[in-house]
Amino acid sequence: MISLKINKQLVQAKPGQTLLQVATKQGIEIPTLCHLPGLEARSVCRICSVEVKGQSRLLPACSTVVEPNMEVETHSQKTLHARQVLLEFIIAEHGGLATLSPQVRAYAQTLGVTEARFYLQQSNTAVRNGSDYIRYQPDKCIHCDRCISACRDQRVINRANRGAAIRLTFGANDTPLAQTNCSSCGDCVAVCPSGALSEQG
Ligand code: SF4
Ligand code: SF4
Ligand code: FES
Repeated sequence: MISLKINKQLVQAKPGQTLLQVATKQGIEIPTLCHLPGLEARSVCRICSVEVKGQSRLLPACSTVVEPNMEVETHSQKTLHARQVLLEFIIAEHGGLATLSPQVRAYAQTLGVTEARFYLQQSNTAVRNGSDYIRYQPDKCIHCDRCISACRDQRVINRANRGAAIRLTFGANDTPLAQTNCSSCGDCVAVCPSGALSEQG
């Protein structure tokens, strides 16, 4: 077993466990968006980032593996501020809280974030072409990449651009989903936390 401290409490962990797994077992709630047990950890959202003594940058709890004698703070001022700023970006990117998922709204409420202090040009609000079975609404997408991890054909959903211009594309040539190898299995819909991907009504 490995000994480490989380929020000044001595805890024991198994080698290979992540900070998120160990903290969760201790009853410590760390917010997550892109993480989902069973899916490859892509660690793109960073909302789970925690402070580790000796590290200048915050580390994602969902993919950082425990090490002996680590000292971790999951709810320090630095981590809370980072999460607030991140949520502000998400809110700004979506033009407000209204289109965001209940989970994101709950995190924002917990952290006292009601609006963004800045404005981001929304580059990608049009409903992009899905297929007869799958609908994609980019204004709801939080770019967590869960759908990319879940799709068994890794060529179907891709991430393009960075920052405010980030968006999902379909197929090798950014075609409607119906023109890709999509098998309409629905796995991407099942893992999408925001409702951006849904079954056609
Ligand atoms: S429906 Fe299935 S095959 Fe199509 S994009 Fe979603 S996960 Fe991939
Ligand atoms: S469509 Fe859903 S699962 Fe895919 S990146 Fe956007 S929010 Fe995440
Ligand atoms: S939940 Fe850890 S980086 Fe997204």
